[in-house]
Amino acid sequence: MKIKSLIRTIPDYPKPGIQFRDITTLLKDAEGLRLTIDQLAARYRDQTIAKVVGIESRGFIVGAALAYQLGVGFVPVRKRGKLPGEVLGHDYALEYGTDRVEIHTDAIAPGERVLLVDDLIATGGTAEAAVMLIRQLGGEVTECAFIVDLPDLGGMKRLAALGLKAYALCEFEGD
Ligand code: PRP
Ligand code: MG
Repeated sequence: MKIKSLIRTIPDYPKPGIQFRDITTLLKDAEGLRLTIDQLAARYRDQTIAKVVGIESRGFIVGAALAYQLGVGFVPVRKRGKLPGEVLGHDYALEYGTDRVEIHTDAIAPGERVLLVDDLIATGGTAEAAVMLIRQLGGEVTECAFIVDLPDLGGMKRLAALGLKAYALCEFEGD
């Protein structure tokens, strides 16, 4: 409840009718930031995670802090053209057009247990694309973790249909 109460809602951003759930107000609050990372770390501490994968860009903030707290490495999934080494890419549909995420091909070893992290799940398209990359490298996604779930947009169900477990610290209905 504390975490949810620290997330600010900006109406009509980035376009009319969208309620933007803004985590910057949670991140700037020392107790809120600590609670967020500690609650996730408590959930995953005993799950023998080998790597935390965070999705650019807001997923980097929570993913890197969580990896540090779990004592494991962090792997970025980035938007197109940002990673310097050999990459694997996956295109996914947006409301208008497509986007692409990429991962270094040597970022995850076959059989490694991976925790996928992002700040928010809406349609689940971004998380699904990241899962495809991890699976192509032979990684096993143990769970997908988010600060915020927007259940009306169906992302959690989409991940469940892929045989994935998913978890969010709070949800906002009516989106
Ligand atoms: C937002 C959010 C998630 C994604 C969720 O990122 O941080 O990554 O959208 O949407 P989906 O479940 O419908 O795919 P955004 O692409 O706005 O970029 P940012 O993290 O760089 O701000
Ligand atoms: Mg994002």
